[in-house]
Amino acid sequence: MLVAPSILSADFGILAKEVIDICEAGADLVHVDVMDGHFVPNMTIGPLVVKAVSEVATKPLDIHLMVEDNSFFVELFAPLKPRYISFHYESEKHHHRVIQKIREYGISPAIVINPATPVSFLQEVVKYVDMVLLMSVNPGFGGQKFIPIYDKIKELKELLQKHNPKCLIEVDGGVSDKNIHALKEAGVDIAVAGSYIFGHKDYKAAIESLKV
Ligand code: DX5
Ligand code: ZN
Repeated sequence: MLVAPSILSADFGILAKEVIDICEAGADLVHVDVMDGHFVPNMTIGPLVVKAVSEVATKPLDIHLMVEDNSFFVELFAPLKPRYISFHYESEKHHHRVIQKIREYGISPAIVINPATPVSFLQEVVKYVDMVLLMSVNPGFGGQKFIPIYDKIKELKELLQKHNPKCLIEVDGGVSDKNIHALKEAGVDIAVAGSYIFGHKDYKAAIESLKV
């Protein structure tokens, strides 16, 4: 299991130190949650702060857009050269256009669905993305209760086996040592965890407990 700590739960007063610490503690990716106050009822950070994060991070960035205007935000964040930019299926009318735009910057495109969105909606786009992110909470906040989406993970795995076997599966929301084994079993490749890791006094131990 690859582990992507979500810096949404970091101490923003010492953000640079937090990013350096999780990278040293064994993070595989640095998960950055970008919210616009429209698609989700919260706002987080923009390109200035994410640029500062990218300058201290020793692991690639995994940018999760929770916004209405995906093309606009892709243009803001692509120059920071993250490994992934993911955008929500629910917020976009022109999915292939956004995927192509991300790819043109040399970045891996990823698509995200909310807990209530069926996996079958992804049928026409999975072959064009490098990762699918399944939300296991409704996006907007850290520290929410995990929604058991195990059947969706298995269904996605089958869809990917047919159309894009190299595509990775990421899960985000309420991930901890309590559900990580079941997530692995269901077929997850990358676990995002915010409050579980940053709420732990030993980041290395917390990250290791998720590397199953
Ligand atoms: C929620 C974000 C998540 C969040 C996860 O909208 O996408 O990345 O930070 O936080 P936890 O792990 O605390 O649920
Ligand atoms: Zn996220």
